[in-house]
This record gives sequence, C-alpha cells and structure tokens, in this order.
Amino acid sequence: QTPQVVVVGSANADLVLDIDHRPAPGETIIGSDVVTTPGGKGANQAVAAGKMGGSVAFVGCVGDDDHGALLRDSLASAGVDLTQLRTVEAPTGTATIMVTPDGENSIIVSPGANRHVTPAVLEEARSSWATAPVVVLQLEIPLESVELVATQAAGRVVLNAAPAAPLPARVLAAADPLVVNESEAAFLLQDAGGESRPGQPPGGQNGERDDAARTAQALLGLGPRSVVLTLGSAGAVVAEAQEDDGGADVAHVPAVRVEAVDTTGAGDSFVGALAVELAAGAGLAQAVGLATRVAAVAVTRRGAQTSFPTLEEVGRLDAEAGR
Ligand code: RIB
Ligand code: NA
Repeated sequence: QTPQVVVVGSANADLVLDIDHRPAPGETIIGSDVVTTPGGKGANQAVAAGKMGGSVAFVGCVGDDDHGALLRDSLASAGVDLTQLRTVEAPTGTATIMVTPDGENSIIVSPGANRHVTPAVLEEARSSWATAPVVVLQLEIPLESVELVATQAAGRVVLNAAPAAPLPARVLAAADPLVVNESEAAFLLQDAGGESRPGQPPGGQNGERDDAARTAQALLGLGPRSVVLTLGSAGAVVAEAQEDDGGADVAHVPAVRVEAVDTTGAGDSFVGALAVELAAGAGLAQAVGLATRVAAVAVTRRGAQTSFPTLEEVGRLDAEAGR
C-alpha cells in the first residue's frame, strides 16, 4: 500500500562514546569504548514513525558497508519500506557523538553517502514522495534536495530545520509545521535579519513560556503555515496561522517529567511521532502531545533508534502517569 509518511533524509551510524567533560582546545581526554548504533536524523524519524505503527517509507542513501547494513536492519525492524533506500559508492554517513554524564551530547556528522541524496536521485524516487500524505524533511542532505521535495510534494511537509542552516523563503513557506528547537529558531530568526531573540521577558516559568510563544510567532512570520518550537524538558509551543484575520493560535504543550540518560535523537522521535499523528488526521497540538511523550521515553534510554518506544510503551507511560 502507499506509505502515509515518507521521510526523505539522512542515515548515519552513530559512533557513541561517554566522556566526563567536553575536551577544551588542545586537551586530550580518555573516553569510554565506542558503541556503534543506528542514527541519522532522517532514519531516526522514519524508525520513530514506524514504531508508532505508521505506514512509513524512507528515501535516502547508505554505503555498501557494515554501517549501511546496521541501518537497513534497524529501519526494516521498525517496518519501514526501504524500496527507495539506495546503496551508493561512498561510506555510510557517521556521527561521532560524545555524551556527558548529564545526558547532553555534542555531535560531529560526516555525511558520506548522505551527499548522494541529490535532486537527480530524488527525481528518480519521485513517485514515492510526490503524493504521500505527509513528507518529512531535515537538513542533513544537500539543501537543493530539501528544496526540491519541499516545493514539489503535494502532501503536508513536516520540515525539521536541523541542523541549523539558512533556508530559502520558498522552503520555509512549504513547512506545515516547521519544527525547530530554541537554538535552531534563534539561527533562523537571525538569518532572516531579525533579532536572535525577542526582548527579554520578566523572569520565571511564565516569562520563559511567553518568550517561547513570541519566538514561535516570530518564526511564523518567516512564512511557514505552522510552527512547533521544542523546548526540551519544558515541552513545546505550537503556533498556527489563522486563516481569517492573519493572527496566530499559540498553545503550550507541557512535557512529561523524566530522568534524562541520553537525549540523542529525542527530537527525531518527536518529529517521527508527530508525522504519524498528522497523517492519521490529528490536529497539530494533539499530535505534539503524543510527540512529547514519545520523546520523553526516548531520553530515558541509550542511543537514538535503540531508545525509541512503540505506541504500547507510550501507553504504559501514560498509564503510570494516570493520563
Ligand atoms: O538527531 C540526532 C542524530 O543527529 C544522530 O542520530 C546523529 O546521527 C545525527 O544525525
Ligand atoms: Na535516547
């Protein structure tokens, strides 16, 4: 059957090591052994969506190597259609990920095969994404490729503008929603010539929330039809342009309290779950509700794809929290 969600994007082998602090310039530190796990923002989003039970396809490129095989296995176990996953003559992309004891990470991506996800390759895979109800994009493949799909897909485009990069107005205009975290939001607003952050609000939680709401509205001003601003442990803000008066509907969706072990890929699990809910006809705020719960489970476990929950596991979390 035709997939409801098509993810066009990157696949990386994550080379993960624990460190007790980030090395300073010129400093050498000893880290843990390296653990290799399946990752890459695109593949992560596809796996997260597949684990929600969605009918999902992934369009991307890996190399003819062990890392490529690792990714194929992980995507296939999540039930993702791999008809348009190409094997090319380049090493599979890697991400070297250093995780500190607080669960935060620093990541260096070596694109490898992801550079081969060119407009020409995507033209050949056009039938897979052109008419899919929901198409999901991130920014670890060439920007011209993102632009091609964003501007020519007939379905709803979920654009996760990560890692931060300048985007043409017509790409932003296609996003519904644009999904970014706070630093990506600041980057896009600054790139558009505005302030990096709206004026400092009064302190306290409400102040932060007002600030986030203003940021989401400012992002809406860049042209997307809707915006989801993720705030980590503070949840997310949803902003949707109103059809009639040009105003915006803004809502805050709280996060579930959890102890973070490894935040790697949590944002991707959020995007994957969001896409499946949107494809199933949910409203944006409702879809963000599920997405925040999926991401909450993901941060409590090691790795990216290895940490993503099934819909059943999210249900268990809800039962524990009495939702
Ligand atoms: O978003 C997390 C992902 O970013 C990691 O899996 C890594 O591969 C990088 O692409
Ligand atoms: Na994780």
